[in-house]
Amino acid sequence: MKITVIGAGYVGLVSAVCFAELGNKVLCVEKSSSKLDELSRGMSPIQEPGLTEILDKNLEEGRIRFSDSIKEGVDFSKVIFICVGTPQSENGMADLSQVEEVSRQIAMHMGEYKLIIEKSTVPVKTHELIRRTIKRYAREDLEFDVASNPEFLREGFAVYDFMNPDRIVIGVESKRAVEIFQEIYQPFTENGNTLFVTKTSAAEIIKYASNSFLAIKISYINMLADLAEKVGVDVDMIAEGVGRDKRIGRDFLNAGIGYGGSCLPKDVNAFIHMAENYGLDFGLLKETEKINLNRRKQFLEKVEKLLWINRDKKIAVWGLAFKANTDDVRDAPSLGIVKGLLETGAQLCLYDPEAMENFKTIFSESKKLNYVEDKYDALHESEALLVLTEWDEFKEADLKRIKELMKLPIVVDGRNIFNRDKMESEGFEYHGMGR
Ligand code: UDX
Repeated sequence: MKITVIGAGYVGLVSAVCFAELGNKVLCVEKSSSKLDELSRGMSPIQEPGLTEILDKNLEEGRIRFSDSIKEGVDFSKVIFICVGTPQSENGMADLSQVEEVSRQIAMHMGEYKLIIEKSTVPVKTHELIRRTIKRYAREDLEFDVASNPEFLREGFAVYDFMNPDRIVIGVESKRAVEIFQEIYQPFTENGNTLFVTKTSAAEIIKYASNSFLAIKISYINMLADLAEKVGVDVDMIAEGVGRDKRIGRDFLNAGIGYGGSCLPKDVNAFIHMAENYGLDFGLLKETEKINLNRRKQFLEKVEKLLWINRDKKIAVWGLAFKANTDDVRDAPSLGIVKGLLETGAQLCLYDPEAMENFKTIFSESKKLNYVEDKYDALHESEALLVLTEWDEFKEADLKRIKELMKLPIVVDGRNIFNRDKMESEGFEYHGMGR
């Protein structure tokens, strides 16, 4: 099949490259000339396991190419995926200006039937605005469909998740559109996946509802972490016991300093605002957000309580990325925690295997803050080690070496990655979250 993808951001690029890998001919439209240049040379602007390899392979085999022309994209295929950015605007709603602009341009260049698919995360009823825009700007006699096909990729697993979906959600209003989707996703349906075909508004809601549910799970276990701490039990035990109920499941019940990233915080917030527009109060999600933001504050309080006074004390920080296996620091809990520590006058030494460059664009090096290239170098003379990301290399670290290097062996584990008994038997003063 021929497929056009507009927008080579996270979702767009991964989708374009994966559709090409599945044997389709793909044209990916991107307006940034520097990005286009990189992509045409086989370099991916985002780091995702396997992405560069399949980008190179498909460029070489002529199944994918890049262009800055929406007209070319519209002429290329009857299937057009809109994957442009929908950043959070100041009022908490998604900013849809790029979606509107692309819809107008598609309309102006259309000469025959098109299936226009929103893959970006957009508020409910956006498909109606896209449809109205296309109707206004396109030739009157032209037929078209607007559909929703939300994406559920996790950072660090994007290619894997695209190729091994839990579910493929299709929001459509016509039989013709369903048939085209069946063709697009045939490689998956042949392997036993089924398409979940629903109304377009339902598909739009499913994306927000999924991310919000994950956020609720995390805040729920974090709420229980507070109780566990007061009572004197480990929250991990509670997560294990509760999670063994198949209806609940153990995933996303890891307590800690809370969720971050480019999706969960933004989507929860946008969902709350979307509900408000319908006169509904999503108090459950407001509480989820509140618990999440409080985690950072509670972590800071925990550190300050342990050290009594932070001023001029050397503190090592391991982990800046919002989660392991990514260099992304957007909305990462580390941002608020580092800011809070600096406000108390602590002397910080930061390390992250991937995210330091991104973090430096927000917190540059100073007298009170420096970065090191080796995790052990962060520990010299430190009076506490704070763990903010669940990287495997931290879990596997040499505990004896850590203890030798530190001035005081105090570990505050914001992600509960260490075994408490083991830490204590090695002579650490160990503090987790809800343990
Ligand atoms: C998420 C969704 O999982 C994905 O389906 C959607 O398409 C995009 O948003 P992502 O942002 O990559 O993916 O990260 P995810 O793995 O969901 O983790 C989100 C945050 O929650 C991270 O900060 C992580 O550390 C935190 N988290 C996750 C917890 O604090 N506890 C958990 O048990 C799980």
